[in-house]
Amino acid sequence: MDRIAVLTSGGDAPGMNACIRAVVRAALNNKMDIYGVERGYAGLIKGEITRLGTRSVSDMIHKGGTFLKTARCSEFKDVEVQRLAAEALSAYSIDGLVVIGGDGTFRGAKDLCDNFGIKIMGIPCTIDNDLAYTDFTVGFDTAVNTVIGAINNLRDTMHSHDRVSLLEVMGRHCGDIALYAGVAGGAEYVLVPEIPYNLDDIASSIKKSYLRGKTSNMIILAEGAGDRDEIAEYIQKKSGINVKVTNYGYIQRGGSPNMMDRVLAARFGYKAIELFKKGADSCAIGIKNNKVITMPFDEVAKAEKTFDNELYDIAHVLSL
Ligand code: ADP
Ligand code: F6P
Repeated sequence: MDRIAVLTSGGDAPGMNACIRAVVRAALNNKMDIYGVERGYAGLIKGEITRLGTRSVSDMIHKGGTFLKTARCSEFKDVEVQRLAAEALSAYSIDGLVVIGGDGTFRGAKDLCDNFGIKIMGIPCTIDNDLAYTDFTVGFDTAVNTVIGAINNLRDTMHSHDRVSLLEVMGRHCGDIALYAGVAGGAEYVLVPEIPYNLDDIASSIKKSYLRGKTSNMIILAEGAGDRDEIAEYIQKKSGINVKVTNYGYIQRGGSPNMMDRVLAARFGYKAIELFKKGADSCAIGIKNNKVITMPFDEVAKAEKTFDNELYDIAHVLSL
């Protein structure tokens, strides 16, 4: 294995650049040639491939986003489109690929392995933390900390005006950002797609807390758990208390990665190259109980994401 390529795919996340840097430096350290593919699978099928050197990743460790750029490429589900990717890799005599992304990226990787025998190592990097086989994905911790900053600011203004704040954060199918930010930000209510909730109960509890003298409440809503404006309107109508909506949006996806994400990126990137060196089979890399682990892509696809119900209960018990 002496010629490797690396790409980033799906939604960008803080720490993607740190992952690329780790892969590039570890590969060069092992005398491998290393190539960067621009714009994920969309760029791969068009042959957007360039040679990288150690200076290509200088001054990158602290930068959010991805200098290789990323893209969604829905046509990649088609095996004939995947063939173009395999041909592009073959044209450069590349015999191994590192993909950095989330579950969709790993599904694409599995297809490339199964249909064309490409050797691939996957690094989990998405703010959503929605991959079941790993405790954490690169980017999640930074995104949650960014959201906590927003909660702190909202607390100041909501408290001053005796208002309820409803903050929408990312997570279409996974409530981890809402859950962790809610616990760390001291939110009273955390609404996630994994757990049903009752708006009448929330409105009545907000009203009761107001009568007890608690005049400000914080609701964190994962984007996949309901319509922010409808929820706010309903609670306001039922409780009689002003509910202000904030959609934090893409701000939470940018920014400099924190220590946790940089260290994870370094461990994962290093591991990817070690696996190539050993001639290991294609797999996804992850972290369980602070140990770097690997799992074949077909098992990753089958693993069911569990939700941390205990942390969810803690969020609500501590918010009284
Ligand atoms: P993420 O990797 O963050 O989950 P996406 O779900 O957008 O982001 O997936 C990234 C890319 O992976 C998609 O744009 C597509 O090119 C590829 N992909 C997603 N699902 C599949 C699939 N079932 N088969 C092949 N490729 C896929
Ligand atoms: O997968 C990461 C993510 O940020 C999700 O939380 C969000 O739902 C989605 O990407 C947004 O995607 P796009 O960048 O295509 O709007």
